[in-house]
Formats: sequence, structure tokens, C-alpha cells
Amino acid sequence: MRLHVAEHPLIAHKLTVLRDVRTPSPLFRQLTEELVTLLAYEATRDIRTEPWEITTPVTDTVGRKLTEPRPIVVPILRAGLGMLEGMTRLLPTAEVGFLGLQRNEETLEAITYANRLPDDLSGRQCYVLDPMLATGGTLVAAIEYLFERGARDVTAVTLLAAPEGLRAVQEAIGERADVTIVTASVDERLNSKGYIVPGLGDAGDRLYGVV
Ligand code: URA
Repeated sequence: MRLHVAEHPLIAHKLTVLRDVRTPSPLFRQLTEELVTLLAYEATRDIRTEPWEITTPVTDTVGRKLTEPRPIVVPILRAGLGMLEGMTRLLPTAEVGFLGLQRNEETLEAITYANRLPDDLSGRQCYVLDPMLATGGTLVAAIEYLFERGARDVTAVTLLAAPEGLRAVQEAIGERADVTIVTASVDERLNSKGYIVPGLGDAGDRLYGVV
């Protein structure tokens, strides 16, 4: 597993406002999108491209273009949905799949409640969107799900990661595949309720209001 902590003054600034308990949902959503676009830039550094012949107004030349099959972006419902717009802004031709995984708040284990993904993901570069890598249970379940469909190249984009979650992903995935985690921050720890500290609270609630 590779970890990339994206460091940039704009990321630090936006993340600080995002964490602030006084930041209301509309601003929280906007900042999430902006942060994800910045993270997407880092997350797509190894996206596959191939030579592509074009003609400019001046001459023929060879550039590069994203390879087929197209990359697939997989937001984890519900909070990952708040990251989709920010990701597809940079990757408009990506296919989008959905995975509904929810944490059981007592056992902290992930339960699959929805899935809309191609059956065959072999050879596809997959970008999983989940804002909070806390215990790692959800992300491990998501990655395993993608592996079952043949994916071997998975990049997870998260806003925050806890050391506990990073360890859990590392232990579960090992060297089995090419997994990269791109995050804006590795925070201190999890508290007894499984929240990231200092964190930003419940990302889903803050994006969409408490339901
Ligand atoms: N999920 C969240 O939304 N927040 C946390 O701090 C941990 C998991």
C-alpha cells in the first residue's frame, strides 16, 4: 500500500475551514468538492495514458490521451457522494459506479447495502471516494469488493485518515495489489466512538445535515 499525503497551502486552508464546527453544510459541501479536485490531481498522477495523434492549427503532433477502458470512480455512499463532483470535474470521462457500505455503529464493521458496479473490473483503474478513513473497515470492504470483480489497481481518495485505519488497510491488503491512499491529512487517532481526532465530525451529517 502506498500513502500520499497531499501537502499544499490551499489544501491546509480549506481543510481547516472544513474542520471548523461552525462551517455550515453548503460551505462544507463546496470545500469538500474543492479539496477533492486538488486531491484528484495527486491521485491521478499514475493514470494510464497512450500516445494520440492530433493535428494542431500548425502541424501534426503526438500527444497523450487516457487509455480505454476508462477509469472508474466509485463513491462510497453516503458521504463519498459529496466527493463525486470534485473528482469528475477533473476526470469527466470516467465511468461512475456506486457502492453502499455503512458502518455498524456498535461493531464498527462495514455492511454492503447497495452496489452499482460493472461485474468485470479487470484492467480498470479504480478511484474510491470516502472522506473519512477511520477504522478502515469500510475501505477494506470496498477494496475487497473491487478485487472480487477483478480490479487490481485501486486508489482511495480520502479527506482525513487515522493511523489505525491506514494500518488496517495495510494489514488487510498487504502486497496483494496496487493500492494507493491519497489524503489531505493523517490525523492523530480515533476516539472511543471511532471518530477521527481532531477530525471534522460525521462527514455525512456535515455534508447533508443530520437525518
Ligand atoms: N466517519 C466520519 O464521518 N467521521 C469520523 O470521524 C469517522 C468516521
